[in-house]
Amino acid sequence: MKKKFNILLLNGPNLNLLGTREKNIYGKISFTSLIKKLIKFSKKLDINLIHLQSNAEHILVEKIHTSKDKIDYIIINPAAFTHTSISLRDALLAVNIPFIEIHISNIYSRENFRAHSWISDISSGIICGLGIDGYKWALKTVVKRLSISQ
Ligand code: DQA
Repeated sequence: MKKKFNILLLNGPNLNLLGTREKNIYGKISFTSLIKKLIKFSKKLDINLIHLQSNAEHILVEKIHTSKDKIDYIIINPAAFTHTSISLRDALLAVNIPFIEIHISNIYSRENFRAHSWISDISSGIICGLGIDGYKWALKTVVKRLSISQ
């Protein structure tokens, strides 16, 4: 029987405020609606989507730890932790699960400090500036990559 892939979607701080937060940058869709859409899309792709949003760095780090040997691929929008967190980088290196880094906005066209990410160089790809559509592209890419490698 074909294996159902387990994909972990991680979202960092303040992304729970989607739809109310800086709508000109992050759009009008709420975080709850986004997750609903992605769960629906994952069913179409026939994958298990596990998701976690947290405003706390250690919770994201611990989720990465417990994903070892359970999760096939990670899609992560670390939000502000992108630019600050070496512990997220170390956690991703420790579990050695391939991951795609995603940002709703184009981090290269904003303040200078956003142009540096502590995880881009160890990612298997980066999506940024495509709005929330980027999440669907990430899921499609992950499925394609995992199907080829199976
Ligand atoms: C973000 C970009 C980050 O710079 C910012 O801190 C976020 C969201 C994005 O999705 O565009 O919170 O990761």
